[in-house]
Amino acid sequence: MKALSKATHTVTNSPIRKMFNLAVGMKDVVSFTVGEPDFNTPDNIVEACVTALRNGAHHYTQNAGILPLREAVSDKFERSLGLRYDPQSEVMITSGGMEALFLALRVLLDSGDEFILPDPSYTNYSRMVYLCDAEPVWVKCTPENGFAYDPADLEAAITPKTKGFVVNSPSNPTGGTTGLETLKALAEIAKKHDLWVLSDEVYDQLVYEGEKPVSIATLPGMRERTLVINSFSKAYAMTGWRVGYCAGPADLIKNMIMFQENVCACVNTAAQYAAIEALTGPQDKVEEMRRVFAERRAYVVDAFSKIEGLKCYAPKGAFYAFIDITSTGLTSEEFAKALLQEEQVIVVPGIAFGTYGDQFIRLCFATAMDNIQEGIRRIAHFMEKRR
Ligand SMILES: Cc1ncc(COP(=O)(O)O)c(C=O)c1O
Repeated sequence: MKALSKATHTVTNSPIRKMFNLAVGMKDVVSFTVGEPDFNTPDNIVEACVTALRNGAHHYTQNAGILPLREAVSDKFERSLGLRYDPQSEVMITSGGMEALFLALRVLLDSGDEFILPDPSYTNYSRMVYLCDAEPVWVKCTPENGFAYDPADLEAAITPKTKGFVVNSPSNPTGGTTGLETLKALAEIAKKHDLWVLSDEVYDQLVYEGEKPVSIATLPGMRERTLVINSFSKAYAMTGWRVGYCAGPADLIKNMIMFQENVCACVNTAAQYAAIEALTGPQDKVEEMRRVFAERRAYVVDAFSKIEGLKCYAPKGAFYAFIDITSTGLTSEEFAKALLQEEQVIVVPGIAFGTYGDQFIRLCFATAMDNIQEGIRRIAHFMEKRR
């Protein structure tokens, strides 16, 4: 047999998958792993899908997605960012935010190019860069900097091969946001070095401390070099529907749509109709879910402040607590494996998100309060035994 592609070696299973495999067959496990809301999709959205199916939404759509949804997306961006994107040429519907990220990288990257990512960051960014036969370059984002880039570090990582960088605010896995002053500095660097920016804003509705984070696309001279990526998954509890969206310069979008045609033709048609309802229907459920996450976040931060040896940074957004385990002297995988074996609690080892991430574990608090309470009780017990 001829060999499989090189990508099959560079794109390996994530440490998250390894943890799941270890837990197979175990009983009474408390899981903090899966990064998705534990709520069902609001009824009005489900009903819109059913109605669309009854009305014959059974066929392929335009590769870019149905125009009424692109119009609703354009209106959403005008409301949330104050930017007007042309629904005909600057907006695209994708299979989750993930496909928007991948198509954008595939359009931007040639073999051997580099793309800068935060360390720690969403595991799939680096895998997608590898799938483009390009190189991820990680830049450390420390708690001292609110888990955002230090602009000087980002600039130092730029080489002639650098095509761009990812900004993810609020961030998975840290819950950190990138403040305006940092964004301004990043924007200047992007313009100076002629770089693209992928602004992953899938957690934009899930913020806990006052104002929503600013999008780098709104800063002067940035709209033309930024792709804003968003999704229905997190805000509307629609992870399984696989609908995301993005807006950016027409030439980038045009080529992403062309690739879409060759990958999957279009996003599931009925799900696109449901997505229109998500954006244009009542928004009270979004706020209700955010309030529940806010309560859980407050509990988690307070509970960890009482556990000696662990440091939890209060997340400003998303639904993750990123916890510093340095004092234990364990790597994040050693910590996560021991915690699973001794206390039957699954967390994600921070190494899944980058080398610097290795001194942390990630807990997703999008799970019922009694799970959270029981899981943290067990983590406290795990730490007590190590004193
Ligand atoms: C930072 C970040 N970006 C993008 C995504 C993709 O989500 P989806 O493809 O469901 O929209 C996720 C999902 O966990 C994420 O955490």
